[in-house]
Amino acid sequence: MRNDTASANDILNKRPDKIPAVNIIGAGLAGLSAALALARSGISCRLVSPMPSERAQSVMAEGGINAALDTMGENDTAAGHFNDTMNGGVYLADPDAVWALCSNAPETVRMLLALGAALSTENGRPVLRSFGGQKKKRTAYARSSTGKILMTALTDAVRRYEAEGLVQRYSHHRLHSLNIRNGECFGARVLDLHRRVLSDMKGSVILASGGMNGLFPGMTTGSVLNTGDAAALAFVSGAELANPEMIQYHPTTFPISGKRCLVSEAARGEGGRLFIMRNNARWYFMEEKYPELGNLMPRDVVSREIELVRNDKECSGQVCLDMTALDRAVWESRLSDLREECIRYLGRDPAAVPLEVSPGIHYFMGGINVDKAHRTSIARLYAAGECACQYHGANRLGGNSMLGAVFGGQTAAKTAASEIIPDNAGEEEIAGGEELEIMQPAGVPDKAAELLREALGIFRSGEKLESAVQKMQELIDNENDALQRNRMILGKAVLLGALNRKESRGAHTRTDYPERDDAHYRKTTIAVFDGKEIAVSFRDIQSERGEAE
Ligand code: FUM
Repeated sequence: MRNDTASANDILNKRPDKIPAVNIIGAGLAGLSAALALARSGISCRLVSPMPSERAQSVMAEGGINAALDTMGENDTAAGHFNDTMNGGVYLADPDAVWALCSNAPETVRMLLALGAALSTENGRPVLRSFGGQKKKRTAYARSSTGKILMTALTDAVRRYEAEGLVQRYSHHRLHSLNIRNGECFGARVLDLHRRVLSDMKGSVILASGGMNGLFPGMTTGSVLNTGDAAALAFVSGAELANPEMIQYHPTTFPISGKRCLVSEAARGEGGRLFIMRNNARWYFMEEKYPELGNLMPRDVVSREIELVRNDKECSGQVCLDMTALDRAVWESRLSDLREECIRYLGRDPAAVPLEVSPGIHYFMGGINVDKAHRTSIARLYAAGECACQYHGANRLGGNSMLGAVFGGQTAAKTAASEIIPDNAGEEEIAGGEELEIMQPAGVPDKAAELLREALGIFRSGEKLESAVQKMQELIDNENDALQRNRMILGKAVLLGALNRKESRGAHTRTDYPERDDAHYRKTTIAVFDGKEIAVSFRDIQSERGEAE
């Protein structure tokens, strides 16, 4: 058994009723929420992650969490949140799931507050800020460190159940493989990175492993530790992917070593303005082109516009974000940590000079296909958070990811709890020793990364995608390392999704198919791997609810 868990094992031995039958892979917001929900209903679980929660990507989330709490006197409603989310996702999300998310959002945020999440408040009520694609102030926040604050509260809440033995932590453990037979998941094989020991953990599995950053080394704002390997494993093991081509470029990022640094949308929510120099004068292109929401249009729109003006011959080629007119009080009370980050990583004070920004990959709307209850296409395998496809359709609204992670984690936990097979539990060490290879959290090989980068930009074309698919297959055929093969098979599925979706919608813009085509493509892209080939099809969105109120 594990080296650092003698006490947990003691507890297990004393309390055989607490043998975990749910394995959660990932200890960020979605994983912690799932663990808390299971523990609160008296079901024990293992919480497996390569890093402790304190180093999860969720800690890096900046801007906020959406809920129609209506504390700003704007008559906001869950229906308004639903409409903005559906519209922002260009009607590709499942309306039933989105309604569940939005109608439960106020309760979700109240639950986090009750856990002690130190969100910014006035007179005891959360203050809300404007965020992209939303017609009301709806984003609760803690300066620009909201993720850190939510993660602190959830980590602390889960600790209580760790002490009771209901949640067993397996930090520094990585998913090695899934035990799937005849379309059913019986557990996970997990590698102890410290002891180099492989163990089989029986029970159902909730994947909460984050986005597919490993497909785009150096290009994402997300953690390089979130490689997408769990999604790749699930995919090569037979789980469906949904909408893998929907990749969000956040409009305002800048490069730092090995990744991109985010300048939170909160900067624009608090009054930051995008401009480019044209004929020696500032052109506030978003404000001119989109008078209603201006700089706060949904991210797909802003990123596309940035690409267009950058390539406009009359313009200077560099877009800047001007925050110099923001009040001192705004910097101090709402954006102090964003300012510190810009000074630390860019050497520029955004309160004094405009920042040069450009779009960077920030979020994967697609991922492992799940239904409204967060079941994947494999029985007793569930997924939540960024590794799953749910809630965001073709483009995610800022502030909906943390909400989706917390709510999705809870939902997956409830479903897993109701489908538990009690006899399928326990843990068995199966191999160990120095000879065990330790997988490193790097990305796909350079050649594959280049193909994905070139073909899956903000603007895409059938020609480039077609050629990338072929070259990717050659790379797959010549790759001996199973981990890299899996990653490239996942990458190929993303390319195929983009190639087959012959329209432009949300984050997916095809230069050869510039129009949205609801008749053929207001459908979920489904990719399945049969061990040899990837099949892509388009499935109707099954919903009892209309698309907008
Ligand atoms: O810009 C941001 O602060 C990002 C927030 C989000 O992706 O939800």
